Amino acid sequence: MNPDGTLCRVAEIPDGGGKGFVLEGAEERFAIFVLRRGDRIVAYRNRCPHRGTPLDWLPDRFIAADGEHILCATHGALFRFEDGVCIAGPCPGARLEPVEIRRKGEKLQLSGPRYEGVSSK
Ligand code: FES
Repeated sequence: MNPDGTLCRVAEIPDGGGKGFVLEGAEERFAIFVLRRGDRIVAYRNRCPHRGTPLDWLPDRFIAADGEHILCATHGALFRFEDGVCIAGPCPGARLEPVEIRRKGEKLQLSGPRYEGVSSK
C-alpha cells in the first residue's frame, strides 16, 4: 500500500460486485471488502456479526443472488449495502463494521489507521 493509504484503483472493484483485501499491520491482519455500485462505494470489515466468520465462501463473492444485498455465506444473513445492517437471517439488526474509505480521483484510499501492506484476499 502506498503511504497515502491507497488501497486500489476504483476500476479494480467490479461494478455491482466487490473485492476482498487483507491489511497487514505490525500486530494484526485485518480482512475487509469493498463494494461498488456505479459511483457508490462502501467498505466493511469481512467479519459477520453473527459468528465472526468471513462473509464470502468464494473469493470476492459478497453479493446475494438478489443482486441487492450483502450475503454472509455461512448462515445466509442479508445486509443492506448502504449501512451494513442485517435485514434477514440469524442476526437481524446487527451491523457489519464499516471501514472508512474515500475516493481520490481514480484511487480508493483508506481514511482510518494505516497498515504496512495490503493484499487481495
Ligand atoms: S456467521 Fe454469518 S450468518 Fe451466521
